[in-house]
Amino acid sequence: MEKLREKNERLGQPFEYNIVLIGFMGVGKSTISKKLSEICSMDVVEMDQLIAQREGMSIPEIFETYGEPYFRDLETNLLIEMQSKRNVIISCGGGVPMREVNVKEMKKNGKVILLTAKPETIMERVKDSHDRPLLENNKTVEHISSLMELRREKYEAAADIIIETDHKSTVEICEEIITRARA
Ligand code: S3P
Repeated sequence: MEKLREKNERLGQPFEYNIVLIGFMGVGKSTISKKLSEICSMDVVEMDQLIAQREGMSIPEIFETYGEPYFRDLETNLLIEMQSKRNVIISCGGGVPMREVNVKEMKKNGKVILLTAKPETIMERVKDSHDRPLLENNKTVEHISSLMELRREKYEAAADIIIETDHKSTVEICEEIITRARA
């Protein structure tokens, strides 16, 4: 970890752009953002967390009270707002790259990193949580797998860099992000 921090310092910082992490629910965007922010001394904007904080309710409550389109508009507005920032890590909710306008916004000042994992890995990571309305009543590898397939094309089209996360440690993934984003 110390070595990685030194390596990042040698490579020169700050980033002149934002690091935008995208990927399926449970792929590890929040965990990676947190570690990357420690290594690179960058702030993190955790989109879901900020939206929930501003609305004063959880993501499932927002879905239930106002519906999904309302939540998706909040995501778009937040991304637009983020364009005034530089050198921050933006951890996107899994559905953000589905809207073309969102992808356009994130690409304005950001390098877009897609994290991927196998459906079985995702299942392991989400099975005990209850904060994802789109999985709540259908937490199966089959459902995850088919939703992932539906989203794959848009995820890949949005990405500047694609990083597989299966069988890699958090630090290894961060190292790969730093090396490839700097290249
Ligand atoms: C969603 C992903 C969630 C959250 C909401 C919808 C999605 O974020 O924004 O439940 O459509 O994939 P995470 O990817 O952080 O779980």
